[in-house]
Amino acid sequence: MSELAPAVARTEPLRIPRTIVLVGLMGAGKSAIGRRLAARLNLPFVDADREIESAAGCTIEDIFERYGEPAFRAGERRVILRLLAEPVHVLATGGGAYIDAEIRAAVKAHGLSVWLRADLELLLRRVSRRTDRPLLKRGEPREVLERLMAARYPIYAEADMVVDSVDGPPDTMVDAVIAALASCAAVAQVQP
Ligand code: S3P
Repeated sequence: MSELAPAVARTEPLRIPRTIVLVGLMGAGKSAIGRRLAARLNLPFVDADREIESAAGCTIEDIFERYGEPAFRAGERRVILRLLAEPVHVLATGGGAYIDAEIRAAVKAHGLSVWLRADLELLLRRVSRRTDRPLLKRGEPREVLERLMAARYPIYAEADMVVDSVDGPPDTMVDAVIAALASCAAVAQVQP
């Protein structure tokens, strides 16, 4: 039997002991997959970027423009540390969140992290659909993403699980995340 069999055969949703924290670059699918994953696991879904916007009363673009990136990062840290103390849910983080050492330490202590790893071409295709990401205004999207991949991928690699981001029906990726969770020791331990 393959290692994936328990997840495939399972009819009840997995019991999840800690908040599932999706990390990865913009365009990797954290929000889209997170929302569907939460529905499949009967857990609440929270998008950290939306929480930051509602705490600030303006968009992320506005926060960057009016107050600068350090203020955004401080707000992001406050919001994510607060969310990690809340009951178990699925949390989609912004691409820079896991790069922050304090957030990363809190995720390691209180969450189960999943890196949605994507290649450059897939990210480029996805980010070209939206124009509201402040970091992408700092240069050619390809160069910005290449720089971010070089700086961040070694850090995202510290996540508890890695799932490759692919084009196609989102449920394929949700299945892959559920399979990764099912084989993760912290989840396996709490199954009935
Ligand atoms: C950022 C990614 C964005 C958002 C902000 C900064 C980053 O979130 O948090 O623009 O540093 O990569 P998404 O990854 O959801 O686009």
